[in-house]
Amino acid sequence: MATEESTKAMEDVKIGDAAKEQDDIVDPWNVQSSSETGVDYDKLIKRFGSSKIDDALIQRIEKATGKPVHHFLRRGIFFSHRDMYALIEMYEKKQPFYLYTGRGPSSDAMHLGHLVPFIMTKWLQDTFDVPLVIQLTDDEKYLWKDLTDEEAHRLSYENAKDIIACGFDEEKTFIFSDFDYMGGEFYKTICRIQRRVTNNQAWGIFGFNGESNIGKNSFPAIQAAPSFSSSFPHIFNGRTNVPCLIPCAIDQDPYFRMTRDVAPRLGYPKPALIHSKFFPALQGPKTKMSASEPNSSIFLTDTAKSIKNKVNKYAFSGGRDTTEEHRKYGGNCDVDVSFQYLRFFLEDDEKLEKIRQDYASGELLTGFLKKELIEILQKITSEHQERRAKVTEEVVKRFMTPRKLKFDF
Ligand code: TRP
Repeated sequence: MATEESTKAMEDVKIGDAAKEQDDIVDPWNVQSSSETGVDYDKLIKRFGSSKIDDALIQRIEKATGKPVHHFLRRGIFFSHRDMYALIEMYEKKQPFYLYTGRGPSSDAMHLGHLVPFIMTKWLQDTFDVPLVIQLTDDEKYLWKDLTDEEAHRLSYENAKDIIACGFDEEKTFIFSDFDYMGGEFYKTICRIQRRVTNNQAWGIFGFNGESNIGKNSFPAIQAAPSFSSSFPHIFNGRTNVPCLIPCAIDQDPYFRMTRDVAPRLGYPKPALIHSKFFPALQGPKTKMSASEPNSSIFLTDTAKSIKNKVNKYAFSGGRDTTEEHRKYGGNCDVDVSFQYLRFFLEDDEKLEKIRQDYASGELLTGFLKKELIEILQKITSEHQERRAKVTEEVVKRFMTPRKLKFDF
């Protein structure tokens, strides 16, 4: 699995570079584009040194699994990867892998954008029938945000309910809070990583400086460690070489460039990755949906009425100023937030394509797209709320107890 990109990565891609080049800013803490159509993802692939998820790879995945890929892959919402070919090849040789993803629990309220990696991960778990570990980085949020350790820890458990409500299989899934799970083989794995990353490297990759608290400095090793099966002896029976696939948003890639760089020096396999694009803010694709900007977000707890109001009031329109002009020149799907959201959540390819054509030609007005979107989002959130209400403390506890899963290693 050795590739050249990772050894270069530590030196070459530094946070802050983007700002100098007037490029899009994409790092674990900021996403900002100066373009109306949002981040230039092809450029990002070049800058980060990852590979595009193209038709050839999609066909390869479909051949290996015997089933059509999820529309997130089909529509380029997951658009970039590292080492997917190698992972698929191993899967075909019946060598098992596992999935790893995570969430930083910074607020009670999760929004639609937060669902994206978990929807993808659930599809991967169902399709490949593999173990899944989900890291809740309450430590990270405590180190970075203005909240108490107790509060960050509590939020881990609240967010775990939303994650479980996405439909993960209890027999195949281990969810953990860093505060709780720290220790043992996980901590040993963290220390192995820490010893192999210098301050200069961490500062270069993540933009830390002499003013940063020392917890931040060492946190990247904590997010890296679950990429190695040595962190989970109860699942992998002590095996340290089970390969890992990480679905995540592209802003998390710096952590995993670092991880892939140290892996060979530890004798561990490099994790494979698939990266998603960002879920745009209601105000438009220049930035992503953010829980700290309530008007930019549709929350999973929103009522049907507030979804309707928010979409109607805030969803940026790619339509023309007057109906007359719109009929004549048509709408712009690339900037229209309602259309962009439909790409994430309207599963029917034909219907989506028809909407695209009819909006671009001017036949459909923005109001129609908004109405379609409102209905879909109301359904998604109300179903999510129903499932979440069924997730008791007892269920959370079971998911979060270190234990053997249904797989033998
Ligand atoms: N740092 C991520 C966040 O703030 C949380 C996270 C931890 C994560 N491990 C991960 C995300 C693995 C994706 C994959 O949300």
